[in-house]
Amino acid sequence: MAPVCHRFCLIHFVSFTTLLLVLVNADDIFLEWQVNIDTTIKPVSVDQPVITINGMFPGPLINATTNGIIHVNVFNNMDEPLLITW
Ligand SMILES: *[C@@H]1O[C@H](CO)[C@@H](O)[C@H](O)[C@H]1NC(C)=O
Repeated sequence: MAPVCHRFCLIHFVSFTTLLLVLVNADDIFLEWQVNIDTTIKPVSVDQPVITINGMFPGPLINATTNGIIHVNVFNNMDEPLLITW
């Protein structure tokens, strides 16, 4: 009986420790992105409007790790619909 319990308890301990590590390591990142059209930035030296995020082109870096949760509040200030994918 004791070896079974020992093994069973070890599995529980490992599971609990893993869960704890996931919970401790899970970073929540909260971002706000203001999306606009900018006609002054000329990335290819051509008069062509570009889409900026927080005034930046290319957009900002998201520095995240595995199991992190990223919350992005996107405000579309353009006159057209916007789709952002990763
Ligand atoms: C991302 O974050 C880690 C941890 O804070 C840091 O060590 C690393 O330099 C960052 N990378 C970039 C590209 O900012």
